[in-house]
Amino acid sequence: MTKEMQENDFIVSKTDLKGRITYVNKIFMTMADYKEEELLGKPHNIIRHPDMPRAVFKLLWDRVQNKEEIFAFVKNKTKNGDDYWVYANVTPSLDANGHIIGYYSVRRKPNPKALKIIEGLYAKMLSAERSGGMEASTQVLLDALVANGGMSYDEFISFIQE
Ligand SMILES: Cc1cc2nc3c(=O)[nH]c(=O)nc-3n(C[C@H](O)[C@H](O)[C@H](O)COP(=O)(O)O)c2cc1C
Repeated sequence: MTKEMQENDFIVSKTDLKGRITYVNKIFMTMADYKEEELLGKPHNIIRHPDMPRAVFKLLWDRVQNKEEIFAFVKNKTKNGDDYWVYANVTPSLDANGHIIGYYSVRRKPNPKALKIIEGLYAKMLSAERSGGMEASTQVLLDALVANGGMSYDEFISFIQE
């Protein structure tokens, strides 16, 4: 079953430098069907859905480790085997010296129209990934940006969400 986020909900989590969960809010637990103690200290891929291309997570980690934020559409898997889509904003948290001390993600309800585009795109990326690896998958994404008038990834993602 596919679960849907409510219009005004925010799903929040924080991780350490390795992507292990250090904080989740109540809505996170409700959506993912996990209790707090089942999540804290666990790698964030605990809710990874097999439909997600690896290239999306590579882009995510490249960005945040470079002290940049990223917006991404992510399909997650719940403990009960259900799934739910989110529109995520992931950011690095910096200390006073500018060193990364962890990561933070806030998700809201994705625009259903955007998901129609993203589901097709991710399916293509995943199949490219199976035959040609991460590089082929990333190329599918780059080709989609060219086909959309040469928008950047950021422009494309915010354009389809709004
Ligand atoms: C703050 C933060 C939040 C994340 N949230 C998710 C998430 O909700 N779902 C997810 O599948 N991966 C999330 N990730 C990415 C995971 O760390 C991981 O890269 C991804 O699940 C792919 O796992 P894998 O490399 O084992 O395939 C998040 C990473 C960070 C830093």
